Amino acid sequence: MSEPLLEVRHLSKNFGAVQALQDVSLAVAPGEVVALAGDNGAGKTTLIKAISGVYRPSSGEILLKGQPVDFGSPQEAREQGIETIYQDLALADNLSIGANIFLGREPMRRAFGFLPVLDRRKMAEAAKETMALLDFHVNRMEAPVSNFSGGQRQAVAIGRAVYWNAQILIMDEPTAALGVPEQRKVISLIHQLKAQGRGVIFISHNLQDIFAVSDRIVVLRRGVAAGERRIAETTHDEVVKLMVGG
Ligand SMILES: Nc1ncnc2c1ncn2[C@@H]1O[C@H](COP(=O)(O)OP(=O)(O)OP(=O)(O)O)[C@@H](O)[C@H]1O
Ligand SMILES: [Mg+2]
Repeated sequence: MSEPLLEVRHLSKNFGAVQALQDVSLAVAPGEVVALAGDNGAGKTTLIKAISGVYRPSSGEILLKGQPVDFGSPQEAREQGIETIYQDLALADNLSIGANIFLGREPMRRAFGFLPVLDRRKMAEAAKETMALLDFHVNRMEAPVSNFSGGQRQAVAIGRAVYWNAQILIMDEPTAALGVPEQRKVISLIHQLKAQGRGVIFISHNLQDIFAVSDRIVVLRRGVAAGERRIAETTHDEVVKLMVGG
């Protein structure tokens, strides 16, 4: 395996008395899709939130291209090329697609040669291009995203990560709220990201999706790494056994 893009070493996280993660390690190589699986409450979301700067680990290390990192915020993780699409999405409902893509990173231009103003045209064009790239189509690009369906909102979140050229994309259940055609699009998009040499961490409860797109699977059980397999060398049955234990 080439040098990992991302490495998590012996990471633990507790919320007061709740030990959400204990001594979990994980690596993602360039062009590799790693699935993260496990029952409800296994610690999947907590792990990716630790990687993406939402939570500070209680102990353990995170390395990016071999360098230890300690993100104080999701913003810091984004600046280092880690884009995360959360289960709860975190779009600003009242803003347009373009404004969501640029949320916190708004492009400015100079009006009359000096006055800094928001570059709305650039935002609108980026939104249009990005959504076209994903082959997702909505009628009213400038409408607030609260007008869109769950699947369309998911596409906006993925579009934002693609637009910012993330090296590592983390997706927490990206297909859960989608219809079958949109699920297929997300899966083919993940193949595309992989072909471009990006690293992807993909959380899903859907084994079919996991087997369709991942190189490896890491299974968590009650906060502990229950096993890791190459997708080519495992079966749905074995993964389920790792998830439920016994
Ligand atoms: N902010 C928090 N405060 C306290 N406990 C938390 C917090 N976030 C998560 N937990 C606890 O940590 C454990 C792991 O939760 P987590 O959300 O990571 O699970 P998950 O694997 O993502 O589950 P799901 O498949 O249902 O999304 C659970 O016991 C949960 O109750
Ligand atoms: Mg979760």
